[in-house]
Amino acid sequence: MATITLANVNKIYPSRYGDVHAVKDFNLEVADGEFVALLGPSGCGKTSTLRMIVGLENITSGDILFDGKRVNDLEPRERNVAMAFETYALYPNFTIAENLGFPLEVRGFDEAERKRKVHRIAEIMRLDKILDQKPPSLSGGEQQRVSLGRALIRDPDVFILDEVMSHLDANLKFQMLLDLKVLHRELGKTMIYVTHDQMEALALADRVAVMDHALLQQAGTRNELYATPANVFVADFIGEPPTNFFDLKIMREGSSLRVVNGDASISFTPDKVCSAKLSQHGQDDIIAAIRPQHLHLANGADEDTLSAKVHINEYLGERSILTLKSGSQLFRALVPPHTAAQRGETVLLGYNPQDLMIFDKDNKQLIA
Ligand SMILES: Nc1ncnc2c1ncn2[C@@H]1O[C@H](COP(=O)(O)OP(=O)(O)O)[C@@H](O)[C@H]1O
Ligand SMILES: [Mg+2]
Repeated sequence: MATITLANVNKIYPSRYGDVHAVKDFNLEVADGEFVALLGPSGCGKTSTLRMIVGLENITSGDILFDGKRVNDLEPRERNVAMAFETYALYPNFTIAENLGFPLEVRGFDEAERKRKVHRIAEIMRLDKILDQKPPSLSGGEQQRVSLGRALIRDPDVFILDEVMSHLDANLKFQMLLDLKVLHRELGKTMIYVTHDQMEALALADRVAVMDHALLQQAGTRNELYATPANVFVADFIGEPPTNFFDLKIMREGSSLRVVNGDASISFTPDKVCSAKLSQHGQDDIIAAIRPQHLHLANGADEDTLSAKVHINEYLGERSILTLKSGSQLFRALVPPHTAAQRGETVLLGYNPQDLMIFDKDNKQLIA
């Protein structure tokens, strides 16, 4: 078992074309037994971070601690971390049982102990019926489970997975998400799961650490990331369909306040708490954001609304997405399937002022 602490961790790859600062001042604590996802676009520094935790890459500056003890200078095998990658190098001529038991054999476990551990891990990974088969006869999903099982069998303190599902199709992915959840529940290990796919990260992890351009942008639960994204990047990266953003100005009318665009075709009324923070903030140019899930076709009741023309009405089976146009601004609303709204029709969109997010236009940080 292990708590992992990253304190001001930096990774710089020297290169003759100039240094690559792949991880910048990274601070994060992963609790013992916690399941954390590291989420971010390709090239943002996820794998570099993992490789420093595992010990496969030098730390340029900063410290990595396991249970409070500095591990910077420990070899990978002294850290007792297991890592699984997207590619699963199984031994094709060994049976599944032999593949699973191999790391134990290398470490000198006797046969009875090996058998016991192989059966336990095979049970968790649903491999117990195919222990006598060989890898080539297995499906991709089964091979992936063997590979995970083999990484876990030597009972590491920390289990790290790097983009292990990228090549799986939707059905297998769904099954594998369940497998990983069960695995985490059964073994209670500290787990770090790296992905560029928000769906995987949000489905699996207790907490998600969002990275971009070598920097940790925000670490939080699903709800925290969704309701109070630290900045425009997180608000944009988390959520599907993507969040709507509007470049607006603050308009003060007596004691009340609205945020509107140039021709006043878009206008939101923030709630009291948000208005107070905006008044304090001082600047008049802001970025407002609202998620498509938080806009609905208004039924004429007394609520805050926004008027727009229907640009596209996409029926997607379990839901429909309306793309709306107001002036030159396009934005989306998620509505029930089969919602009747013709292209060109003017509609009123209702919203709850609490769902409105406001960001600083310059530094892109959340104001309210
Ligand atoms: N060994 C290396 N030498 C030089 N640059 C590297 C090396 N490994 C990664 N990088 C660079 O560091 C940045 C982060 O890469 P990486 O950690 O692999 O990101 P991710 O896993 O999020 O895609 C990228 O710009 C990548 O090109
Ligand atoms: Mg990577």
